[in-house]
Amino acid sequence: MTIVKFSNVGMRYSTGPEVLHDLSFELQQGSFHFLTGPSGAGKTSLLKLLYLGQHPTRGIIHMLGRDLTAVPRRELPMLRRQIGIVFQDFRLLPHLSAFDNVALPLRTSGLAEKDIKRNVTELLEWVGIGDKMEARPPTLSGGEQQRIAIARAVINRPKLLVADEPTGNVDSEIGTRIMHLFEELNRHGTTVLIATHDDEIVTRFRHPQMRLENGTLTEGPKRKVKAA
Ligand SMILES: Nc1ncnc2c1ncn2[C@@H]1O[C@H](COP(=O)(O)OP(=O)(O)OP(=O)(O)O)[C@@H](O)[C@H]1O
Ligand SMILES: [Mg+2]
Repeated sequence: MTIVKFSNVGMRYSTGPEVLHDLSFELQQGSFHFLTGPSGAGKTSLLKLLYLGQHPTRGIIHMLGRDLTAVPRRELPMLRRQIGIVFQDFRLLPHLSAFDNVALPLRTSGLAEKDIKRNVTELLEWVGIGDKMEARPPTLSGGEQQRIAIARAVINRPKLLVADEPTGNVDSEIGTRIMHLFEELNRHGTTVLIATHDDEIVTRFRHPQMRLENGTLTEGPKRKVKAA
């Protein structure tokens, strides 16, 4: 099944120049790709289109079987709930504890509190934050905040996970753990796209690459991205 399909998509920010040009590709369910390319190439901009944070200025995006231009605004939150996002700048809620930040997607889905407690605790322990679950994000290091952001993005097993430099602030041992977490999620059917500068991760984990240069796809699935 096709999870994402871009057809001749271009994007600009307000009145600025176009930063993404003629992107046409598909991501199949269960695929796992790295999104690579130089700083300023448009990786974060492409992820914004994927998590519905930005509209294309031309072309058509199909997401989870829907043509985004035809989805009524009131249905967007339902679509967004199926997408896990790790932002380059984390975007945790500063007044909530690490635990509550990660629990939030589960609470909105109505899961019982005792199951929330078990799931969130297990995941935060896995990413090495088990002893800091009650801390608020501003009192934690960048790498700790990043791991909480990752836990929040994966806690409800989204259909699509997009992560922007998710290993950018952690050492290589934790980076490896995070990659294993993404691979585990992927084995359960989540389609994964990870923007990264980290050549070591790209070489070690051998997933196919989508490469952007100056807003254009120069490598990878021009038309059809097969499951990895
Ligand atoms: N909010 C914005 N408003 C206007 N232009 C923007 C905005 N965000 C990014 N751009 C421009 O879009 C282009 C692509 O930026 P983007 O952040 O997508 O690159 P990137 O590949 O993620 O880079 P990096 O590896 O440094 O994170 C750049 O030329 C940038 O100046
Ligand atoms: Mg970026």
